[in-house]
Amino acid sequence: MRRTKISVIGAGNTGASCAVWAASRELGDVVLLDISEGVAKGKALDLLCSGPIEGFDCSIHGTSDYADTAGSDVVILTAGIPRKPGMSRDDLIQTNVKIVRSCAEQIAKFSPDAVLIVLSNPLDAMVYTAWKASGFPTHRVIGQAGCLDVARFRAFLAMKLNCSIEDIQAMLLGGHGDDMVPLPRYTSVHGIPVDQLLSKEEINECVERAKAGGGEIVKLMGTSAYYAPASGCIQMAEAIIKDKRRILPCAAYCENEFGVAPGQKGKGYFIGVPVILGKNGAEKVIEIQLSADEKVLMETSIAHVKDLVKVVCDLFPDLA
Ligand code: LAC
Repeated sequence: MRRTKISVIGAGNTGASCAVWAASRELGDVVLLDISEGVAKGKALDLLCSGPIEGFDCSIHGTSDYADTAGSDVVILTAGIPRKPGMSRDDLIQTNVKIVRSCAEQIAKFSPDAVLIVLSNPLDAMVYTAWKASGFPTHRVIGQAGCLDVARFRAFLAMKLNCSIEDIQAMLLGGHGDDMVPLPRYTSVHGIPVDQLLSKEEINECVERAKAGGGEIVKLMGTSAYYAPASGCIQMAEAIIKDKRRILPCAAYCENEFGVAPGQKGKGYFIGVPVILGKNGAEKVIEIQLSADEKVLMETSIAHVKDLVKVVCDLFPDLA
């Protein structure tokens, strides 16, 4: 039987963490690619040698040659520079758009049938770039952001409630920027609406901490977070590889959905929305009802994503 093949592009902190989670869950054989061949080969070999202790059995191959990624089922694109203290995700756009574009072209050349999960920042604009550069259908290009952002929101709520994170269900929409939209109205603790357990102020503290969660970590350690971002990618990859049809918050292509680009066929944007993830990638975007206030927040976030995509298209008019 042919084994599932997962390629991770970029062997930095996030890429390497993706490889660790993918291997530890035995999702398939892993290829770790980086322009620095030594780093990719070294980290792959190091991880492989943890297999006998951790008890996972899969091949982990380091490389700088895209030919080694050929025929991947899922490709996770983490390449690009991370944030430094004082930088927003948007400050990375000029550099990362070039990197993401060239990686996506190579991915499409060698794995034309893959589902592509994008993690590079600024996320929503980089998913758009990867979609255009790969030529993939929209359902096979998805951004990881919501899984991370909602995990942070859940973690902060659990800390506040002094209860298990396992019992917290939360929802979050919008772009992966400071104006992402956590939705307390759709958040519950073992089925109990969160506003029965925490005050408005306490919930708001968790909302704001989730929104600024990436920046909090950059400030602490001088570079972007990587464990939870990678974990979010692998949560998505697992749903796709096992065709679980999980509903996860992901940056997925929207036109009419959530009023992103109504009636503008082929001119939509990737934005954080609840998505059914299965073997074909984004199988379906699920629309939910929003209150007037939530709509305003979502519209602001969508407008921000559109501004970022405009920067991409101004730099590379052929991606428009
Ligand atoms: C974060 C980065 C990875 O939110 O976007 O930590």
